[in-house]
Amino acid sequence: MIDQAIALVQKTLEGAEAGHDWFHIERVWKLSTHIAQQHPEANAEVVALGALLHDIADAKFHNGDEQLGPQIASQFLQEHGATPELIDQVVYIIRNISFKNRNEVSHYPIELQIVQDADRLDAIGAIGIARTFNFGGYKNNPMYDPKQEPRTDMNKEVYKKSNGTTINHFYEKLLLLKDMMHTETARKLAEERHQLMLTFLDAFYKEWNVAL
Ligand code: ADP
Ligand code: NI
Repeated sequence: MIDQAIALVQKTLEGAEAGHDWFHIERVWKLSTHIAQQHPEANAEVVALGALLHDIADAKFHNGDEQLGPQIASQFLQEHGATPELIDQVVYIIRNISFKNRNEVSHYPIELQIVQDADRLDAIGAIGIARTFNFGGYKNNPMYDPKQEPRTDMNKEVYKKSNGTTINHFYEKLLLLKDMMHTETARKLAEERHQLMLTFLDAFYKEWNVAL
């Protein structure tokens, strides 16, 4: 089933925005597997399928439709003989992994904790910086505007519509992630990636201001 899921994701995400393409999925899958090794209580099949299918139809690329991803995933799982329990566990991850839903999720099974940590690790550090500028470019957002303040009080609807600057996205999301990790393994990995973003931001402002 894992091989079939890989094939489905590779085909579905052909031509996707580079921050949400097959290679993002592959990194999240590898990171999830790594974290899961420290958690024998986690169901490895749920973790792998959750990681592989978590962005199969990300709502922000489908007119905000949050049902499509769960739908495609459960149909795929059903067709490949998954038990109703396995389908429920994987779909639960897909429905609840997103940063924008963070205030609505009350129950975090270990498998969701692991895949969410992995997805968040891929949102920070060098890859996180690259993905964020790629997404900002894809949206034609400004890189930076000294007059625009970051907004950390955005509710889900405002966050989804936000077309603020890419630099502001660091304050609105990326720099918050280090303290939101569930697992010890991810918390440790997040530390270095977080520092790298701080160093990057310092250098960015210095060069922006042509402070020679
Ligand atoms: P999730 O994948 O948890 O739903 P988001 O949709 O907030 O999270 O973002 C996924 C990634 O897309 C971010 O980590 C970032 O790289 C990029 N991204 C999302 N929104 C923006 C934005 N407004 N500006 C720049 N990058 C963004
Ligand atoms: Ni993702």
